[in-house]
Amino acid sequence: MLPFQPISGAASDIRSLFTVVLIIGAIILLLVTVLVVYSSIRFRARKDEPEPRQIFGVRRLELFWTVSPAVLLGGILIYTIFTMYRVAPNIPVNEAPDLMIVGHQWWWEFRYPKLGVVTANELHLPKGQKFVTEVTSADVIHSFWVPQLGQKLDATPGRPAYMYIQADQVGTYLGSCVEYCGTAHAWMRIRVIVEEPQNFDAWVKQQAAIPTIPTTGAAGAGAKLFTELTCAQCHTIAGTTAKGTVGPNLTYVSTRETIAAGAAENTQANLEIWIDNPQVIKPGVHMPSLGLSANQISDLAAFLEALK
Ligand code: CUA
Repeated sequence: MLPFQPISGAASDIRSLFTVVLIIGAIILLLVTVLVVYSSIRFRARKDEPEPRQIFGVRRLELFWTVSPAVLLGGILIYTIFTMYRVAPNIPVNEAPDLMIVGHQWWWEFRYPKLGVVTANELHLPKGQKFVTEVTSADVIHSFWVPQLGQKLDATPGRPAYMYIQADQVGTYLGSCVEYCGTAHAWMRIRVIVEEPQNFDAWVKQQAAIPTIPTTGAAGAGAKLFTELTCAQCHTIAGTTAKGTVGPNLTYVSTRETIAAGAAENTQANLEIWIDNPQVIKPGVHMPSLGLSANQISDLAAFLEALK
């Protein structure tokens, strides 16, 4: 089962703790069930038998069922605290973040301040490299969680939280917002793409460069529309006059596998549906439908598809 295949030391520690508690819980459940079933059969009321002898208090038994759970819980507590320190060690306050995660209603912004990259919803990580990560929010409380990657961390507006993120296995891993944050909470997905360091470097090099903005054909017409219509009020595309920060940064949007924080595959057809009426794909989303013509929609989609 996927959540149980950790790709980091932290996730592995969390799995161990979970497994131990699960096994202890299962043994206790089994023990109690067996005793209850056994007693209700063995000591059931029978015809012509008098009331059994009434017993008030058995010190030895009472001590047993008070002390043994206390010892067990104490053990779990110590193991849990130990795991918490391993999973979420204190990060020195003077350490600048390598990665900034900002929750928005309802998408994720990923900024790599040291690399000059800003992207959305799909987090790229180089295998085996530890990232000091800051998690915060632009509006309400969200929570960032990719189970195979490690701990869950709340994204609270005005109160940044920190953790280390390190992925040790190449692949694509899924997560989501895990704090109810409004209508489209369920469509606030996270896609983590862990790559070999050289592939990650190539990705960074591309994402940090200014894209070539098309000037001819449908894509060229779309580029013009994008900056003239209200798109530019909310979205940024490097190399254009679009500098909005309300919605996701769309520079190189075409290199992403999905759109709308994982709500649909990134295809030209889906982009057209999305631009025409975003509510069809993601009910509740803040992006408005602009009432564009079919031509305008296909030009815009062609432009976005060209950003790669
Ligand atoms: Cu963001 Cu739930």
